[in-house]
Amino acid sequence: MNIFEALRQSHEKQRDLAEKLLKTSGDTPDRRNLFDLLKNELFAHAVGEDRYLYIPLMMTDSGLNITRHALAEHHKMDELLEQLTETEFSNPGWLAIAKKLSETVHHHLKEEEHGFFQQAGKILSADQKMSLAQQYLAEYEKYKQKEKDSLVE
Ligand SMILES: [Fe+2]
Ligand SMILES: [Fe+2]
Repeated sequence: MNIFEALRQSHEKQRDLAEKLLKTSGDTPDRRNLFDLLKNELFAHAVGEDRYLYIPLMMTDSGLNITRHALAEHHKMDELLEQLTETEFSNPGWLAIAKKLSETVHHHLKEEEHGFFQQAGKILSADQKMSLAQQYLAEYEKYKQKEKDSLVE
């Protein structure tokens, strides 16, 4: 498996969880559970992707712009996740923020799959694509077990 195939596996989960989350209403176990799953999926994916795709790319001149763009979008998703964490699940505005998060996630994944990954594919060597996949997967699995809020700010 190369790094792009490994990353896409989580993308599918993110899309699925985001769609399901938008179908929930009010302060229900369903909403709480799906939100926790999506938050954790986005967190574990972003840590691994930042460290094992974007940081190596950032070290190259041709990868600098896509890296900055992608990291800004990761940051935007983080902010929306934080807003959702701080808003009461029963608040009528909660779903509007969740919708914004879902749109941001969908837009970002599309941009990665149809733009950034193609560009990155030209920059990284075949060996790098394979070894980065292993490193990404190990990091992803590790952070799937952790809570984002447990990281020291
Ligand atoms: Fe991604
Ligand atoms: Fe990403």
